[in-house]
Amino acid sequence: MGEIRLSSEKRLRLFTGRGYPELADDVAAELGIQLTPTSAYDFANGEIFVRFEESVRGCDAFVLQCHTAPVNKQIMEQLIMVDALKRASAKRITVVAPFYGYARQDKKHRGREPISARLMADLFKTAGADRLMVVDLHTSQIQGFFDGPVDHLFALPMLANYVGSKVDRSRLTIVSPDSGRVRVAERWSDLLGGCPIAFIHKTRDPRIPNESITGRVVGDVQGQTCVVIDDMIDTAGTITKAVDALFEAGAKDVIVAATHAVLSGPAIDRLKSSKASEVVITNTLPISEDQKFDGLTVLSIAPLIARAIREVFEDGSVTSLFDGLS
Ligand code: R5P
Repeated sequence: MGEIRLSSEKRLRLFTGRGYPELADDVAAELGIQLTPTSAYDFANGEIFVRFEESVRGCDAFVLQCHTAPVNKQIMEQLIMVDALKRASAKRITVVAPFYGYARQDKKHRGREPISARLMADLFKTAGADRLMVVDLHTSQIQGFFDGPVDHLFALPMLANYVGSKVDRSRLTIVSPDSGRVRVAERWSDLLGGCPIAFIHKTRDPRIPNESITGRVVGDVQGQTCVVIDDMIDTAGTITKAVDALFEAGAKDVIVAATHAVLSGPAIDRLKSSKASEVVITNTLPISEDQKFDGLTVLSIAPLIARAIREVFEDGSVTSLFDGLS
């Protein structure tokens, strides 16, 4: 009788949708693996078809998709990929969404509104995801929307180290563009030697999307180099109004730092014409060549995602990647 060898060896597999395959290429290179060949195309009516070109049975699958515009298409494609993996007997499926679409809809502001960030989590769970991996969620409590482990990665140390290496820390103030992000500003301050923080008193009419009204600067920024931090730049209204308010309040220089460069509509024009000396972002979302401008710095998120994938695959510790951050 022939001997049957049982192998418990886990196989790491990385898959990508069509949202931003270049980021997946970079993550694969960091991990020293190849992306699993995948065919994906659209039917004439826009429906999406996906098929993996190799067996995925028993693998530890990481499905990376960037929720870039058109956001709904990228999300649907990722859901379909998860479904295909589940039906092809992948052992474990991790949805890697560096920018988690719909994160801003995390609560009801008024009656008869959805909580779309929760719906997203339910959709991934229903499709077959065992866990999620995300970067800088709009609000941390979104982790609780998903019924399973969520690896919440932070770009903050990377952004703060970069900014900290360029500025005179004795004249530095970290600025939150609204009261909701003051805790994040405190973390920046902790990493940069306890510099002062300030925030902008921002109000927003929930009936008008993508429109913020910037109020006054709370804190003394006279003669300071200010770093305005945010999770995302969408139309750049929030951040450029904050930059204006800081210069009006006497700031000497203003640097903008944000994780997710959504960069919709007027964003690039607004950033180009703002008085900020530098805009520092990561590539959790693709930035096209024609969106780049002098003063824009793009830091790669690929090494962080690769390290986190390795920790998950090897049953290591993702938390250890952020020791010192609370
Ligand atoms: C809001 O709460 C977010 O943290 C961002 O400040 C906002 O979504 C940025 O949007 P925009 O760039 O369109 O002002």
